[in-house]
Amino acid sequence: MNLVLIGFMGCGKTTLGRSLSLHSGYEFLDMDAEIERQAGMPITEIFHRCGEARFRELEHAFLQSLSAKENLILSTGGGIVLNPANMAILKQFGTVVFLSPPTDVLLKRLSDDVTRPLIAHKAPSEILELYRQRLPLYRQYADITLDGSENPYYYLKRLISKQ
Ligand code: S3P
Repeated sequence: MNLVLIGFMGCGKTTLGRSLSLHSGYEFLDMDAEIERQAGMPITEIFHRCGEARFRELEHAFLQSLSAKENLILSTGGGIVLNPANMAILKQFGTVVFLSPPTDVLLKRLSDDVTRPLIAHKAPSEILELYRQRLPLYRQYADITLDGSENPYYYLKRLISKQ
């Protein structure tokens, strides 16, 4: 079984994926980190030098190159849902888990963040607007939605242990 973590920036995909991996023996792959490694520069720089469209191409190319795996946890970037072709690949690849903490939690985590070009120096209202645009897509593609009413770590740990 593979798990694909989706959700808005700051929802905790990377942190959750990493700790699940540590305690389950599943491999962990963080798409943003892989793209940065392959491009040889941080995401902010990819955006500034090459533009968002190029970053979206790199995201898609990464997914196209993803070989069949078992027992992998993949953390995606928040904009992965914008391209239906990405989601077609990911739905085949594994169980899509939407991490959906309350918006006040997201905003708190994202305040003063300058490592994410789409929200750096943006007002909370602008960040929320982007969130509202994305929300229907996250919901559409999710096999499982974890809204924080149950601890996502324990929920997924149980799910993994049943395999
Ligand atoms: C983006 C989210 C980021 C990163 C890039 C674009 C987005 O990943 O891929 O800055 O469009 O929402 P995280 O969701 O891991 O912050």
